[in-house]
Amino acid sequence: EPMRIDIVTIFPAFFDVLDVSLIGKARDRGILDMHVHDLRDWTHDRHRTVDDTPYGGGAGMVMKPEPWGEALDGLLTSESVLLVPSPAGETFSQRMARELAEERHLVFACGRYEGIDQRVVDHFSARRRVRLVSLGDYVLNGGEVAAMAIVEAVSRLVPGVVGNPESLVEESHEDGLLEYPSYTKPPTWRDLEVPPVLLSGNHGAIATWRQEQSLERTRLHRPDLLP
Ligand code: ADE
Repeated sequence: EPMRIDIVTIFPAFFDVLDVSLIGKARDRGILDMHVHDLRDWTHDRHRTVDDTPYGGGAGMVMKPEPWGEALDGLLTSESVLLVPSPAGETFSQRMARELAEERHLVFACGRYEGIDQRVVDHFSARRRVRLVSLGDYVLNGGEVAAMAIVEAVSRLVPGVVGNPESLVEESHEDGLLEYPSYTKPPTWRDLEVPPVLLSGNHGAIATWRQEQSLERTRLHRPDLLP
């Protein structure tokens, strides 16, 4: 039973890149069953209208509820989690990626940033599991780039997608700290040396050095992660 992912968007072409790289291989190998849908396929008017002016006034357009209602009626089952990318959602994290990697079916509703009529989330929240998810404290034009980031972060945790599962355990955020720096050959490059401890063959010393580097990077870039 591969994980199924459905993505509803007015820009299906955005997701063509998911045909390549590890995600594309996982799809080819039947580990991920991913489907991208054009929201306009659930409209019924000549112009395939998906948005309208906001009640109460203001700038921008709001996505109409009816196409979303029909699309999600057809896609959501009792097993689904509906993910709605939004700068007003809970911040996405490695913890959430781990939770979502356990699910059988994820459905992404990619709206423009002014948003989808709130009644869509209200309606489905009463019937299904729904999460509003923000990529971070900045504004994108729509949910597509956020959905792509979430698909990549989640799917690489699905067993079989990443070839060597050991490569997952020492990454940034898996132990609550940032990852230590990595080096490869040559030992000297533009007058810069690889830290000698990494050439020492002393695995205890290497582990200690890496822990110190993780802590130092976290202090420098993300002190909020430290106790
Ligand atoms: N849509 C617009 N901005 C977003 C963000 N920061 N995260 C998720 N979805 C978004």
